[in-house]
Amino acid sequence: MMALLSVVLRLKLPSRQPAGLFHTCTRLLAADKELLVKLRKKTGYSFINCKKALEKFSNDVKQAETWLNEQAQKEGWSKASKLQGRKTAEGLIGLLHEGNTAVLVEVNCETDFVARNVKFQQLVQQVAVSTLKHSQSIEKSQSPYMKGFLAGAEFLHMKTEDSLLKDLLAVTIAKLGENMTMKRAAWVTVPSNMFIGSYVHGSLPAELPSLANMAFGKYGAVVICEPDVNCNSNLSELGRRLGQHVVGMSPSALGSLEDENTGETETRMLAQSFLLEPSLTVGQYLLPHQVQVLDFVRFACGEETQSTESNNS
Ligand SMILES: *[C@@H]1O[C@H](CO)[C@@H](O)[C@H](O)[C@H]1NC(C)=O
Ligand SMILES: *[C@@H]1O[C@H](CO)[C@@H](O)[C@H](O)[C@H]1NC(C)=O
Repeated sequence: MMALLSVVLRLKLPSRQPAGLFHTCTRLLAADKELLVKLRKKTGYSFINCKKALEKFSNDVKQAETWLNEQAQKEGWSKASKLQGRKTAEGLIGLLHEGNTAVLVEVNCETDFVARNVKFQQLVQQVAVSTLKHSQSIEKSQSPYMKGFLAGAEFLHMKTEDSLLKDLLAVTIAKLGENMTMKRAAWVTVPSNMFIGSYVHGSLPAELPSLANMAFGKYGAVVICEPDVNCNSNLSELGRRLGQHVVGMSPSALGSLEDENTGETETRMLAQSFLLEPSLTVGQYLLPHQVQVLDFVRFACGEETQSTESNNS
């Protein structure tokens, strides 16, 4: 009823109504309940504060959100200690590609709104940079390329420039008022005769003056490739396409060139139809390019992982 009234009143107001009168009218209306539920679900702020925000901005959800966020930072409404047990399923995948190393990280928060916040993106970037440093400290092994994974508690004591990741995490949680989790990271390092293809999907316009080689999105993939000596393909372009395939087709294993495509449900990368040229399998597509794929890693933000599954059980 109130919602309907609000619409009617808005429609009846002449567009050149003096601002003062407009505000008097709308302030009398209770915050629209549906908007209130939506805003609360999206931001996680209290009922009272969401209602206040909607009333303040005449039911403009976007402005209300922005204001809530500013207020939360200012007044510290939500503290890390109050967030026990809140689900963190949103967030970002960060990709940092530097020289012959690429890093994928996943950091989670509760709402997509916070994922777009510059402070959250700074946290994701720092997790990626710390993972890169960590990978550089690992002794070279005999294997042709190196790959490693980090999860959860392993991040806590890793260093940032001036403190520890766990301190940065706590500060960011306190500032933004949402629970956050440094979920996982993967890194790969290749020798000079190989290259790493990489791709991020659903990429956000970075809010921070980010590193040039850092990208944020909802999905990310890195693909380890080895070109033949006489290969003259555009490797960065090819690598990006292969990354796109991995993100889009979500293979679960590499497979081999001999594998026959089994159709829609095929999960071996080399036997799958190539995303950008479905008449060919990935293996067939690669042959004339004289490039071999050796391995890949794919992250989707919010997906169940083995480590989260085993933590839960
Ligand atoms: C944050 O969320 C994670 C998983 O979603 C949960 O295990 C953890 O207890 C929460 N942390 C806080 C401080 O509430
Ligand atoms: C390779 O492809 C990229 C576009 O993906 C392009 O910017 C670059 O100039 C190409 N390099 C060469 C050597 O053609």
